[in-house]
Amino acid sequence: MFEVENVSSRVGSLVRTTKKDMLSGKYAKDIEHLLVERSALAFKEMNFTSEEQQEFARTIGEIFVVGGEEQQTISLDPSKSRNAAYTRGAFFWHIDGANDDIPAKATMLTAKILAEGADGDTMVANTFAAYEDLSDEDKELLQGLRARHALESSQRMVTPDPTYEELQRWQAYPQKSHPVVWTHKSGEKSLLIGATAYYIDGWELDKGRALLCRLQEHATKPEYVYRHKWNVGDFLLWDNTGTMHKAAAYPLDSKRLMIRTTLHGEESVA
Ligand code: OGA
Ligand code: MN
Repeated sequence: MFEVENVSSRVGSLVRTTKKDMLSGKYAKDIEHLLVERSALAFKEMNFTSEEQQEFARTIGEIFVVGGEEQQTISLDPSKSRNAAYTRGAFFWHIDGANDDIPAKATMLTAKILAEGADGDTMVANTFAAYEDLSDEDKELLQGLRARHALESSQRMVTPDPTYEELQRWQAYPQKSHPVVWTHKSGEKSLLIGATAYYIDGWELDKGRALLCRLQEHATKPEYVYRHKWNVGDFLLWDNTGTMHKAAAYPLDSKRLMIRTTLHGEESVA
């Protein structure tokens, strides 16, 4: 069984299938294809165990090891996750691994514990569609422009008043200049922006930051965004190459817990 229901015209599909079919790889090619087309695929109450999630991940790509781990626990609770500060970074629109040469191909989450009360939704914005809808004038303006992606940019949002030691730690991470418009092997173009995009190379700081802000405001309009309201056991998979995503803010003392797997990028930004 493999049934697809598009939740809006530009982004997001609900897929109905079985765990057995997911793990067998029977629909792996359909999933890969649909993922790029729809940006985000939600599988309600798939109830993958950690091992099953990894097993599924291997049917559509190669697992990307993050911080020495094939699988990450996304939580703000420092006893559950080594990366609580990075988890808070997910409250802002971003692309996973945007500071890398080859950003992750896709990222997937299984919800284990939900945020208490409202929110903690995950939002995915289709940046292929957002690019496509730009005016010809804007498309021309963006040609050849590169944005500098830096960990400092996204971490400043979480820790606006860093210690010198923190700042040095962020700045020790390699930065990357990526084209603002990512031209994919398929010929399709998407916007490569988000929280890690610090400034436009060669432009006056204010002007560059204003452009990045305007592009992000455009790209995250509701028509480009799929918003997943979680139930325990839901599985969400997004194409990380033609989207931005974020977690809708939830309380900092929340027990929300997600199991995350991310896939190795297959396409350099160039
Ligand atoms: C991530 C991420 C969002 C969320 O795992 O890369 O951004 O809703 N997660 O937890
Ligand atoms: Mn992320």
